[in-house]
Amino acid sequence: MALAQQEDNQTNHINLPSKERRQVKVQTFTKIVKEPKLLHSILMKGKFIVFEGIDGSGKGTQIALLLEKLKKRNIPTHSTFEPTDGPIGSLIRNILRKRITADEQSIAALFLADRLDHIHNEVNGMLKLLEAGRWIICDRYYFSTYAYHSTHVDMDWLIEANALAADKMRPDLVLYIDLSPQEALDRISKGRTNFDLFENKERLELVSNNYNEAFQKLADKETIVKIKGDDSPEHIHNKIWSALLDKFPILEGR
Ligand code: ADP
Ligand code: TYD
Repeated sequence: MALAQQEDNQTNHINLPSKERRQVKVQTFTKIVKEPKLLHSILMKGKFIVFEGIDGSGKGTQIALLLEKLKKRNIPTHSTFEPTDGPIGSLIRNILRKRITADEQSIAALFLADRLDHIHNEVNGMLKLLEAGRWIICDRYYFSTYAYHSTHVDMDWLIEANALAADKMRPDLVLYIDLSPQEALDRISKGRTNFDLFENKERLELVSNNYNEAFQKLADKETIVKIKGDDSPEHIHNKIWSALLDKFPILEGR
């Protein structure tokens, strides 16, 4: 193919924006430049990265490795988790440890309440920290609710209710560590005799299927990267880091 024709084809592929679209872009740019607060928030805002996976899939291990890497690159981070260690999270943990009983719908609702406090809390809420430029690494978020509670509560209802969270803080990237329930249970069973409410094979099989269903439902709204969990921690970490480099070019060369 002649060079000129090749260039022509490439230009067609780029699909230049129409006059109107370009005008909107110019207007948006002018608005941003004229409003220092808006410009500041865009430049300063951190990133929101969520880890998901069934119990024992290796989230904690990978979060530790990622935090170490980001810190070495002088990225300001904030590591956090759900259920939180706040008052609603503590109540949830008592239910998970089987010290208090609650019905499945109440548990799902408590997780949402805990999440909203996690976002908005005046002292250590994620939203403020994100806006101040921190990269938030969160162990579990609303996908856990869809996966763990759609066994008893309609998934679409859970997604609608969690729009309160999604509208405020939608993750920039969701990393799902995919491990079979049997392998995950084998890992967490080592040296343990007590198991939390959902740490059993039957529930985790359902949870694992529900994760896939939720990811399919939300494929056009969320950025989800699935990583195979039956590998060495180092290999998994390398795949996670590649996913971050793809999503956040700002990390290149840091
Ligand atoms: P989670 O936070 O998802 O519950 P953890 O990171 O706590 O998972 O890992 C659960 C257990 O499996 C821990 O004992 C941990 O040392 C072990 N583990 C984590 N990643 C791997 C891996 N890639 N291969 C083998 N064992 C692992
Ligand atoms: P945790 O001790 O944090 O376990 P892990 O290291 O596996 O994440 O326990 C969290 C438990 O809470 C886990 O079983 C999943 C469950 N969970 C829900 O059921 N719904 C939710 O919305 C969230 C965030 C967690």
